[in-house]
Amino acid sequence: MLRLQKVIAQAGICSRRAAEELIAAGKVQVDGEVVTAMGMKVDPAVQQILVRGKPLALAEKKIYIFLHKPVGYVTTLNDPQGRPIVTSLLRDVDARVFPVGRLDYDTSGALLLTNDGDLAQRIQHPSFEIPKTYEARVKGKPSPKAIRQLEQGVLIEGRRTAPARVVLRKAANRSTILEITIHEGRKRQVRKMCEFVGHPVIELCRIAYGRLRLGNLPSGHSRMLDSADIARIFSVKRVASKKKKSWKRPTAAKNKHK
Ligand code: URA
Repeated sequence: MLRLQKVIAQAGICSRRAAEELIAAGKVQVDGEVVTAMGMKVDPAVQQILVRGKPLALAEKKIYIFLHKPVGYVTTLNDPQGRPIVTSLLRDVDARVFPVGRLDYDTSGALLLTNDGDLAQRIQHPSFEIPKTYEARVKGKPSPKAIRQLEQGVLIEGRRTAPARVVLRKAANRSTILEITIHEGRKRQVRKMCEFVGHPVIELCRIAYGRLRLGNLPSGHSRMLDSADIARIFSVKRVASKKKKSWKRPTAAKNKHK
């Protein structure tokens, strides 16, 4: 017997968190009864489970696809505005896969797609703090102070961003390439962070999930991931805060003068 939300996630419809939302919204029935309480245990081999009125398919083989998303595609599975959808770029994939997290329409780069709801949940859950690295071409040249601000956290909609790692890769005449590693997934986070310090993003590309790098996978192409690739996603520790150091010095100096 398995928890209902786990069974739904394993069927490859969505992540475990999204399955919980479906249950709470009364969209799931077990043996003809709507279930809204969390944690019910079920046996999918003998019980009939309906999600939005449709029978749950039995668990499929898990697949993991790494796509180099081009600009101009949405990462939702349908778009009211009729824009191209990332799954239309996949060839020879007969499983129903969904993107893990989002990447903006105007952002390119690494996108993981899977039918493994459990893995999607682990990658997105804040407690795992999987770092994601972006290459951002920003307007102008950020000062060391602006880079420090990005690293220590800036206010987005009243909430400070968690510590980030920021490396200035290349400064040209009017723009600069920054490599920015964050482990949160707030909407348009990198764009908002750069905007906050006065250097709006011109181009944005996600180049890695953890240590799994996009490398030279061409835009619009994808490859299957194996277990070693998946391990690379999880093999990185969170970005440590650099804030504490600057707190220690004034305290030490104060004690000296006592
Ligand atoms: N941050 C952004 O601003 N956009 C993305 O697509 C991803 C992270």
